[in-house]
Amino acid sequence: MVYGVILAGGIGSRMGTAEKPKQFLLLGQKPLMIHTLEKFVVHPGIDRVIVLCPAQWIAYTQGLIQKYLPAGCDIPVLEGGATRNLTIMNAISYIEEQGDLDKDTIIVTHDAVRPFLTSRIISDNISAAKEFGSCDTVIPASDTIVHSTDHQFITTIPARPDMYQGQTPQSFHALRLREVYESLTEEEKDILTDACKIMVIKGEPVRLVMGEVSNIKITFPYDLKVAEALLADESH
Ligand code: CTP
Repeated sequence: MVYGVILAGGIGSRMGTAEKPKQFLLLGQKPLMIHTLEKFVVHPGIDRVIVLCPAQWIAYTQGLIQKYLPAGCDIPVLEGGATRNLTIMNAISYIEEQGDLDKDTIIVTHDAVRPFLTSRIISDNISAAKEFGSCDTVIPASDTIVHSTDHQFITTIPARPDMYQGQTPQSFHALRLREVYESLTEEEKDILTDACKIMVIKGEPVRLVMGEVSNIKITFPYDLKVAEALLADESH
């Protein structure tokens, strides 16, 4: 079984919108997360879609799903966790409660605030996760990456052809991801910046899947302006 796991458990502090987290802001005619959900509900390789958001936004999210998605879309809305990885762990617990967690269960985890992912990216994630266990969506780094450990002088400049920028989805065999996460020490959990790192620090293979430059994440108000332009371009 393949679950689409939409991560909307954050509060969007860098966006700076006081009234609601960024995943609920309007992009064109619809809230950001609805654009994202639409890509998952129509994908033939995804068996079920679930959304995780802050507890106080669950009823609101359910209302949005009813309002904007076709009737009959059964999308459970669950409480996210204190960190992005704990939000993913909540998703796996839910899948287990549903009796759907076995060694073949795949989760395609995706930022609710990346509305421009494509059907091809989802398909490539599903095949790579089935074949290799885990995968990350990336694009080749366009800028030179400069590494500084003291944040004042350059430590190294890694070879650009070997550098990629991480996007999402990130997809996993759900049982294995949880098993590896639970084997980490608290110190290891503290340095995790994303879910793929759970696998990487334990030496598990994570296959690269090519993303798209347009698969942007809405982080700052500027990104929403770019997203409006991309949306206008899509509709031409
Ligand atoms: N996310 C989540 N659970 C968390 C934290 C983040 O599901 N505990 C989700 C966010 O809702 C978002 C995605 O992970 O869709 C990417 O995270 P980010 O852009 O960092 O979102 P926020 O944490 O909301 O933003 P900020 O870091 O600016 O507060």
